[in-house]
Amino acid sequence: MKTSQLLDMGSEILKKSKVSSYLIDSEIILSTILKTSREKLLTNQSIISTKNIIKFESKIARRSKNEPIAYIFKTKEFMGLNFFVDQKSLIPRPETELLIEPIMKIFKNKKLFFLEIGIGSGCVMLSLLKHFKDSRGVGIDICKKTIKNCKINVKRLKLENNCKLLHKSVDQINNTKFDLVISNPPYIVKRDIKRLSNDIKRFEPIIALDGGNDGLDVIKKVIYKSSKVLKLNGILALEIGYGQFRAVKNLLVTNNFKIKFVIKDYENNIRCIFSTLIKK
Ligand SMILES: C[S@@+](CC[C@H](N)C(=O)[O-])C[C@H]1O[C@@H](n2cnc3c(N)ncnc32)[C@H](O)[C@@H]1O
Repeated sequence: MKTSQLLDMGSEILKKSKVSSYLIDSEIILSTILKTSREKLLTNQSIISTKNIIKFESKIARRSKNEPIAYIFKTKEFMGLNFFVDQKSLIPRPETELLIEPIMKIFKNKKLFFLEIGIGSGCVMLSLLKHFKDSRGVGIDICKKTIKNCKINVKRLKLENNCKLLHKSVDQINNTKFDLVISNPPYIVKRDIKRLSNDIKRFEPIIALDGGNDGLDVIKKVIYKSSKVLKLNGILALEIGYGQFRAVKNLLVTNNFKIKFVIKDYENNIRCIFSTLIKK
């Protein structure tokens, strides 16, 4: 079978299963199996081997049941690095990259000692450690299984000597002072979870999404804890959900933080808040 015939077959199956990105998903799946780019796949039509057709059919069947491509291939690119992911870890999102880039400017050429609350796959902490040579990070998460995934990424990126991973909740961190606390905590309002797409609600870990009745359960803990473990003038970098800015701003001010700046996402919503811990 030729490339174009196989792509058509894959996209037809996905379309029938109501996968909205049926065309591009069929292309991504085949190009990943053939270890080529989508551009080359589309320009170099060739005959696909039986072995690869079977692989393709099985991945298309998984995608037709809404399984995200990142879980099907157990990998997701973030900040130009490839991270191992499975259903125990949230899939790294492009908007979370917005949290990283300003940190690179604020702490340019510095050695950092930082805490990440809720490491998931490790995409945030490990991208920072790749960028800030000789820096050290402490990463915590309440999910033991995602820490196991993060360890795979630590090893792949050869960052064993730069970080410490702890199976702890945000409430359990004490007695250390950091230059930076960074967090993309769970912030979806509990009753809204059922309205998320099937890709997300059927496959991604609920513990990485559920922010409680007002979406702010973990954010509140992160802000309170950061006010205790940051050095004076240290930075708290926080990703928040849609429409949460006003409530989070109040929480920050109450806990002695001064907002430095915010970053909007691709849809013009405030998604990241950078604030400084000031004197009482
Ligand atoms: C939205 S995910 C972010 C994962 C990763 N940092 C990223 O940006 O892709 C939130 C993470 O916080 C963890 N988490 C939830 N509640 C927590 C708590 N109370 N203390 C520490 N981690 C928590 C979840 O297990 C999950 O891995």
